[in-house]
Amino acid sequence: MADLSIEFAGIKSPNPFWLASAPPANTGDQVMRAFDAGWGGAVWKTLGDPIVNTSSRFGGIDYGPMKMMGLNNIELITDRPLEVNLREIREVKKRYPNHAVIASLMTQTKEDWKVLIRRVEDAGCDGLELNFGCPHGMCERGMGSSVGQEPRLAEEITSWAREYAKTPVLVKLTANTGDIVEIAEAVVRGGAHGLSLINTIKSIIGVDLDRLVPLPRVGNAATNGGYCGPAVKPIALQMVAALAREKSIGVPISGIGGIGDWRDAAEFIALGSTSVQVCTAVMHYGFRIVRDMIDGLSSYLDAQGMKSVNELRGRAVGAYKEWGDLDLNYQVVAAIDSQTCIGCQLCVVACNDGAHQCIFTGREEKARPTHAHTVGLAKPPSPFPIGAIAGDRVPWVDEPECVGCNLCQLVCPVTGCITMREVPSDSVDSWNDRVRDGRDRIPGGIHE
Ligand SMILES: Cc1cc2nc3c(=O)[nH]c(=O)nc-3n(C[C@H](O)[C@H](O)[C@H](O)COP(=O)(O)O)c2cc1C
Ligand code: SF4
Ligand code: SF4
Repeated sequence: MADLSIEFAGIKSPNPFWLASAPPANTGDQVMRAFDAGWGGAVWKTLGDPIVNTSSRFGGIDYGPMKMMGLNNIELITDRPLEVNLREIREVKKRYPNHAVIASLMTQTKEDWKVLIRRVEDAGCDGLELNFGCPHGMCERGMGSSVGQEPRLAEEITSWAREYAKTPVLVKLTANTGDIVEIAEAVVRGGAHGLSLINTIKSIIGVDLDRLVPLPRVGNAATNGGYCGPAVKPIALQMVAALAREKSIGVPISGIGGIGDWRDAAEFIALGSTSVQVCTAVMHYGFRIVRDMIDGLSSYLDAQGMKSVNELRGRAVGAYKEWGDLDLNYQVVAAIDSQTCIGCQLCVVACNDGAHQCIFTGREEKARPTHAHTVGLAKPPSPFPIGAIAGDRVPWVDEPECVGCNLCQLVCPVTGCITMREVPSDSVDSWNDRVRDGRDRIPGGIHE
């Protein structure tokens, strides 16, 4: 069985699965139950001056049968006294010396940072995570994302933390920034030993249309919250990958955002994360999900012939390229499996109205759209496919006109029914190649 243990900027953890700083890591009792369930580490709910929260404070987006595809919250940092949290951190570290306990921190003045860091380190935490990401409530007080959006400020506060800390300093970044690399470079200049991302994304989850008040509603008013859960995973993956490929960063990354199973975790690790953190999925399904995450990741690593999770780290980063380096000669076309097709025609509608008008039904030849590149009528395949379920309602693809956009495969309700078949090509040609040898040009923009 593959070795799942990691070392993150000197912090050891039996596996890469950490609770994110959030309600599941709010108390010692929860963190200990999580460790018993299998979690390798926990980033404690952000500590600072305890706050007063609103009621209500969460809102969710359901999508079809899926509850809480996206979660929005206006919760602030811990509402529990610092002494209580510190006592519990001490207790957790005593009982679980081999698990990673990281104290998430948010405060204001240099002196406040000094005192807070000293106190959490005295309690025995293994590292610190500076919360520069919270996009609601705390940013209005000059903390959270208001720091994470200002590179100079973020660099300076990170350097304060480095001045006082004896344990590794991680910085948790906000996704609410135009350029994640700029802010990450700033905190690395400030001395950060590691980066955690993403925190939640500034959002309004919806509107109560009877009361005409946004959600989540606090009396007759509402404010923006932070968005997370499965819906944000693609945004988080992009930001993690952007930092992982940046040579100027060079510190370990803790990937966060929409992770709910081992596949999500493996994707974050393949794009450069050393550890992964989870909030929404634990709030939804409980600590027990980590069992499947451990089993799934181990089996995957075994199947890939990897002896350790460290071998997976960053393995997909090299395949991430700028658009201009992609091969414009690479071509796929849709292929429909007549035996599993149920004849729903969703692919026909999608291709006709939302793509390139090249999926048809029926045995007759079809007129191509006026923009078609291919001359003449589209010819149905011969022999004509008769489906086991759909009979002669199985659609067919006019291959010369298929641009391989994937849309039909994405809408098809039958897994594996539409596959994308590679069309062999004997040469590679990118947009950058075309610019280099004068077949294309970089427009001069508004100065041209
Ligand atoms: C209710 C709630 C409270 C949160 N509180 C904190 C917090 O105190 N400190 C922090 O750094 N992040 C906080 N977060 C953000 C999470 O740690 C995490 O970055 C975010 O939810 C994305 O991960 P997910 O998609 O797994 O939920 C909170 C998130 C939620 C939903
Ligand atoms: S891949 Fe795109 S263009 Fe090709 S058949 Fe499917 S929807 Fe149409
Ligand atoms: S969407 Fe899939 S199942 Fe439906 S008709 Fe097209 S190929 Fe068949």
